[in-house]
Order: sequence, then C-alpha cells, then structure tokens
Amino acid sequence: MKKHEISGKKSAQSAPKKGALSTAEQLGLREGQSLELLKALHILTRDGAINQDSRRKLKQVNHLLQFIEPLLAKVQSSKGSVTLVDHGAGKSYLGFMLYDLFFKSITGKVIGVEVRDELVARSRELAAQFGFKGMEFLNLSVDASNTVLPKEIDIVTALHACDTATDDAIAFALSHNAQHVVLVPCCQAEVAGALKAGKASALQNNPLVELWRRPLHTREFGSQLTNVLRCLQLEAHGYEVTVTELVGWEHSMKNELIVASKGAAHAKSSAKRLNAMLDQLGLNAMRPRFFTPLLEKEVA
Ligand SMILES: C[S@@+](CC[C@H](N)C(=O)[O-])C[C@H]1O[C@@H](n2cnc3c(N)ncnc32)[C@H](O)[C@@H]1O
Repeated sequence: MKKHEISGKKSAQSAPKKGALSTAEQLGLREGQSLELLKALHILTRDGAINQDSRRKLKQVNHLLQFIEPLLAKVQSSKGSVTLVDHGAGKSYLGFMLYDLFFKSITGKVIGVEVRDELVARSRELAAQFGFKGMEFLNLSVDASNTVLPKEIDIVTALHACDTATDDAIAFALSHNAQHVVLVPCCQAEVAGALKAGKASALQNNPLVELWRRPLHTREFGSQLTNVLRCLQLEAHGYEVTVTELVGWEHSMKNELIVASKGAAHAKSSAKRLNAMLDQLGLNAMRPRFFTPLLEKEVA
C-alpha cells in the first residue's frame, strides 16, 4: 500500500509552515491526541506517514470515540471513576486512544480482553512504555473473563469482536451490570447456521423463508437478524438501544453501531417479541444465546 506523507518529507512533529495545516489537523486528530502513541500503534510510521488503511482505522476509531466520550462523562460524574472493558481488543487501538484522550485525566481503568497472546504481550509493553498505569490486558476469551473481572463494570465495548464474541460481550455486560454497551458487531455465523438447518421444514409453511432460502441471503439475513435479536435482548434487560451507521466504515458491511444504556425497567414486551421471533423463525434452539429475564408465565 502506498504511503502518503503527511507533511512532505518532514517528520510528524516538525512545525508546519505558516498558514499550513499541522500534522494533527491534517489527520483530524483530537486536541491532545498523542502522535507518539499513534506511531507506537503503527497507525503512523516513524516519520509521520500514513497509509490508506491506517487513515481509515484512525478515522473509524476517532469517530467511535465521539459516541463513547459522553458515556464516560456520565459515569465519571455519577461515580467519580470509570471502568471500561474492551472485548476482542486486538491491538487495542480503541483502548489506547481512549486512555490517551480521557483516562489520563480521570480515575479509572481500561481493560482489554483478547485471546491472542502476542497482541496482549505487545499491548502490555506499550502501556508500560507510555506509563498508562490504568490499562490492563487479559489474555482470555470474553467468556473466560466473566469470572475473573470485578462484578461491576461501567462500560463494555466490543469492536468487530469475531462471530459470537459480540454475544459473549453482551452476556458479560449483562452479568456485570454495565451502564453502557457499545458494539460494532462482526459477522456472526451461528444464527445463519441455525436458519440453514431449519430451512427445509420452514419452507413448508412460511413464505418468508424466501428471505433466507439462498445461501448468500441466509448469511445476510442471518447477520441482520442477529443484530435485531441482540437489540431486543438488550432492551429486554432494561437498556435503551440506538442503532446507527458508523461513518468511516464505508468500505465495510460491518458498520452497524449499537449503543445501549441502562434505563429504568426490564422491557417485557421486548422479551416477548424476541421469543416470538425465535419461535416463528424456527430458532427456539437459540434461546440460551438470546436469553432474556424470565417472563411471569415462565416463572409461574
Ligand atoms: C477483527 S479483530 C478486532 C480488533 C479490535 N477490536 C479492532 O477493532 O481493531 C477481532 C479480535 O477479537 C479477538 N477475539 C476473537 N474471539 C474472541 C473471544 N472469544 N474472546 C476474546 N477475543 C476474541 C481476535 O483474536 C481478534 O484480535
């Protein structure tokens, strides 16, 4: 991939010519955002160049930060500290940028959960290098982190966490009473697999099966359905949910941003609708995945 110089041959930190945009301005960086950190994360090269992929990544994460920032502020003002867990952290771009911009000046922790040991080791090194004492990295699956982390977590994020890792992140958020959940789901194959398995019998009596009869449609419909079920599940557990498109992700189909914030009561109607959908689509086997608080008639 061709590298694009930000400021001619000069380094990212050289002073811009009079009237010229600084490197930070050209990159659309936030005030105070560290160029050194971006270099250490390999978003910028050592001499301040950036390629198209990195530019996109930077734009994506910076855009996502705008959604997370008000949530951090809310938790900070109500509790005085914030604990955020980032599931499927990968290279922890999100965690590091969040820490750099916000957590350096507030009391709190950013905990990255990631299964790949080399990524965890690198993130630990980076956090030590930058003196980010409130960052921790767990070399665990989302599921396994459930019992290791404290019972109360304020914010849970999962950015392109693979397949069912997003669902595990939701289950984690629910069991840790998270106030806010921010998800950009990746492809999920489980629901499509269940749709496929039930296709033959469903074809007999449900014309809507046409929505997922062909393999490509099974995958696409399965993916959309998964996110719909996730939203209903969060609502059923008392979250207010918004779904938007994440600008900057134009190149990807995986650009749905789900932000859920704990509201007042559990929404029984969402639980009912979720279970009715599973029933009508022949997906009752997926009830453990999309579990809801028990309805009264189920408790009785
Ligand atoms: C597509 S990458 C996204 C990384 C990062 N969130 C980002 O957006 O740059 C997904 C990451 O999730 C990790 N992962 C997949 N399944 C996981 C699981 N069950 N528990 C923890 N991490 C998982 C993968 O190893 C990978 O690093």
